[in-house]
Amino acid sequence: MTRWKHMQLPDESIVYNYQNLLAPMLEEWTPAAELRQQHYLSQSKLRDLIPRVLQVRSQVATERDLKQVPPEMQPLDAGFIDLPQKMLDSQRKQNESSPLSRIVELAGRIREHVDRFVILGIGGSYLGSRTLFEALKSGYHNELPSKDRSGTPRIYFEGNNVDNDALHELFELLSITCVDPDKRDERWGVCVISKGGETLETAIAYRAIRRELDEYYGTNSDEGRDLVVAITGEAGKLRALCQAQKIPEANILTIPKDVGGRFSVFTPVGLFPAAVMGLDVRALLLGAASMTRRFFEDRFENNPVLQYAAINHLMHTQHQKPIRVLSVWSKKLESLGLWYDQLLAESLGKQGMGATPITTVGTRDLHSRGQQHQEGMRDKVINNVIVKSFVNPPMMVGMADNNEDDLNQYNRKSLPDIMKAAQEGTNKAYADVSRPTADIVLPSVSEHTMGQLMQMLMLASVVEGRLLGVNPYGQPGVEAYKRNMKENLKK
Ligand code: PA5
Repeated sequence: MTRWKHMQLPDESIVYNYQNLLAPMLEEWTPAAELRQQHYLSQSKLRDLIPRVLQVRSQVATERDLKQVPPEMQPLDAGFIDLPQKMLDSQRKQNESSPLSRIVELAGRIREHVDRFVILGIGGSYLGSRTLFEALKSGYHNELPSKDRSGTPRIYFEGNNVDNDALHELFELLSITCVDPDKRDERWGVCVISKGGETLETAIAYRAIRRELDEYYGTNSDEGRDLVVAITGEAGKLRALCQAQKIPEANILTIPKDVGGRFSVFTPVGLFPAAVMGLDVRALLLGAASMTRRFFEDRFENNPVLQYAAINHLMHTQHQKPIRVLSVWSKKLESLGLWYDQLLAESLGKQGMGATPITTVGTRDLHSRGQQHQEGMRDKVINNVIVKSFVNPPMMVGMADNNEDDLNQYNRKSLPDIMKAAQEGTNKAYADVSRPTADIVLPSVSEHTMGQLMQMLMLASVVEGRLLGVNPYGQPGVEAYKRNMKENLKK
């Protein structure tokens, strides 16, 4: 704890570079210039929008403090904005009894007792932790022997579907690999996450996994109960069920009322799984809190939240770019794209509005979507997520005796060099035919930068919602399928 208090994080601020998609002011007419004027962002439109964007920022600031939310503003789930700093502050003040310390303590206990941990949840109750797992742990984490995972269990995500075979396969794996419940390396536990506590996919998976748990550790055994963690709202069916099952109170974590599912990654929903994974949850929160500070304090010129929201809003509403591609230049960030797909789709896809999010992974998807981005419909704006430095030492192409593949010419180049060449080459290829791109630049992929980036995209989605005139919170449209599904099940 004391170590954290004095911890200094390197200056790892992320930036948003959008200069490449601004239309030049005074350009002589050529066919290419004509295309640029049509498909790039007009600088005057951006200038005109800035006062409105600053106004929205003040509105968002005011919304945080509303004690009574008028009916026309509901739902209002603005709690996520200040939560990272509040959690850090309360840990400093209350230390052991603060929500963050409880999360870390419980995660430590789980890590000590199990080698496999199943996380049940769907949508906002799962995509954030999956993002953190894939971004910040080895892609082969679950395959590594226990000693190389430094006490971190293998992690599985379920309860995000009603796929019979997927659940069977997980149970099959558990029953093959876990035979003796007295051995830590053969014990498993489960975390069930559902804010409302009524989501069918998650609830059914929990019921099924409870049967497995009882079978393995003994029906209603204390041992089994101690390995169940529930993360849910203040009240609801899941909480009632866990209480009836006598899950220890310390194992039930609460999602704040004023934080919505897809904005909940920095509540126990994302933080508890992250702590079980052995991630530095304080660094995540410090990153998120610093982004909130930048959002409220920085001028437009240094404010990635306002810039991202304004640029993407204008590209959609003024330059007919309804498709928004998040092009991540690291395999480890693919899940970030899935998380953002949900964030944008559920926040803005309302009243016939909202851009359609798509994720691509560079360079992989240049061999699938690249063709369409280069020559397909001009309905897209591409936001690259660029990682400046990779965690591992650069791997060189190197010299080889057999040069039939002709790679010796690149022998002094590293994989990061090639990634950079591909990324810059792609941006240029798009620019040559007036297809707009902007870059979110991450100094590296770390807890601190992921905290910043996820908070940036959440804040930007709120700003965009307000600019568009739709409520970014809530997802009323999702109820329709649920109603029909439940009706069908009654037949
Ligand atoms: O953003 C949201 O609120 C939703 O996507 C929810 O996260 C998702 O529907 C899961 O809901 P719950 O946590 O209540 O099970």
